[in-house]
Amino acid sequence: MSPSFPSADELQPFTSAGRWSEGEIEDLESWDRGHLWKPFTQMAAYVEGRPLVISEGRGNWLRDIHGRAFLDGVSSLWVNIHGHCHPTISRSVREQLDALDHATLLGPTNVAATRLGKRLVDIAPGAGRLSRVFYSDSGSTAVEIALKMAYQFHAQSRDADLRGRDVFVALSNAYHGDTLGSVSLGGIDLFHSVYGPLLFEVRRAPAPDPYHRAFGGDVAEHEQQCLEALEELFIDCEGRLAALVVEPLVQGAAGMIRHSAHYLRRAAELCRRFGGLLIVDEVATGFGRSGRMFACDEAGVVPDLMCLAKGITGGVLPLAATLASEQVYEGFLGRYDEFRTFFHGHSYTGNPLACAAALGSLDVFEQEGVLEALQPRLQQLREALEGIGQLPHVGDVRRLGVMTGIELVRDRRTGEAWSPSLQVGARVAEAAMEHGVLIRPLGNVVVLMPPLSISQGELSLLCGAVHAAIEQVCSQLD
Ligand SMILES: Cc1ncc(COP(=O)(O)O)c(C=O)c1O
Repeated sequence: MSPSFPSADELQPFTSAGRWSEGEIEDLESWDRGHLWKPFTQMAAYVEGRPLVISEGRGNWLRDIHGRAFLDGVSSLWVNIHGHCHPTISRSVREQLDALDHATLLGPTNVAATRLGKRLVDIAPGAGRLSRVFYSDSGSTAVEIALKMAYQFHAQSRDADLRGRDVFVALSNAYHGDTLGSVSLGGIDLFHSVYGPLLFEVRRAPAPDPYHRAFGGDVAEHEQQCLEALEELFIDCEGRLAALVVEPLVQGAAGMIRHSAHYLRRAAELCRRFGGLLIVDEVATGFGRSGRMFACDEAGVVPDLMCLAKGITGGVLPLAATLASEQVYEGFLGRYDEFRTFFHGHSYTGNPLACAAALGSLDVFEQEGVLEALQPRLQQLREALEGIGQLPHVGDVRRLGVMTGIELVRDRRTGEAWSPSLQVGARVAEAAMEHGVLIRPLGNVVVLMPPLSISQGELSLLCGAVHAAIEQVCSQLD
């Protein structure tokens, strides 16, 4: 399959050919290797290769300093929603930049943060029941804040049944970010176990995992067993359950592992029954990625605390929000000298530029009917994945909206995994680049997470490139 890059005309406003001299390219590459420490990257291997230096983005495409264009197949790590440099978002940020760059939210408020707060409350699950918005700047901080709110809410509750509840329950394979509170919630040993001594104790319930379970029985039964284990754990908490924390419908970083809306609803009901708060982490699933505005909408679940980040600004600027119910918020009210205040904040809390980007992104959702326009693309993705699912080394294909995981295995019949040292997922991603597509795997799971703005032709290119790359890499390893 030959790479089908957009035509020169399509990339016109986005053409940097000749802009970077040989000397500049050399400098950039050596400064990157010499000074940057990259996230989730084994630097010993990284510095041996040539860095991919991105200099421009337009629509669903990125271009590097050599002038090569790549389709952004994972939305720049799950953040981009409407394509790069969308004019509506760019305009909103530019207008904000001319009016106010930053002003603290400690004391004063600002226009963009206030407007955005109202709009987030309006679109959040529960039609206004998540009525309070606390800003921060990453998914990890959004979760950290939810944790601290849930803890303090109970620590100072006036209700004897709630006061002092301090046990958090999270799921196996959970990922909620990289700060110590969110790492405590995390259940991915590779990322989290080394920090064990620094973390607080979290009780862990088994998350549904239909594929790995598939070799041992029925999926509905498996979910039921997971719910029973969750209930037992809640019973064990003996009235100390503070909160259950879940990634709704899909555990993204675990490899796009799915559970049903039924599981989520039942888990939420159980949590309520045992008096805990429900914290839903929509950092990855929020803002249309699930096919609806929020994954909770599919299950009809309204949490007590909801964490948003990643796609909130359309992928343009860092911003996060923790939404809280009025009941949680009211638990912090009192005279100053009762010290019920939520003592938490960041220098850039409610940054107006980031809030303006988020307002611009919400405008695009409305003006361009993004969620409606997405539905035929989801149908197309479903069909393309059926073909990929037939490949001899594809063990499982799972998807929620555009969030897709393709698990590569040595033996499809038994589910035998490839050895991690083969880095099969990374090899597939490298091969996909030759077809003009940029993706980033999670171990042996090839992840597709296209922007919602992906066109029919671009989606064909993405799926075709991934199909070809899997065939190419796995047949070489066979
Ligand atoms: C569900 C979930 N929560 C939290 C985070 C952390 O977000 P951030 O990387 O912005 O800190 C992620 C990141 O992938 C995530 O997928």
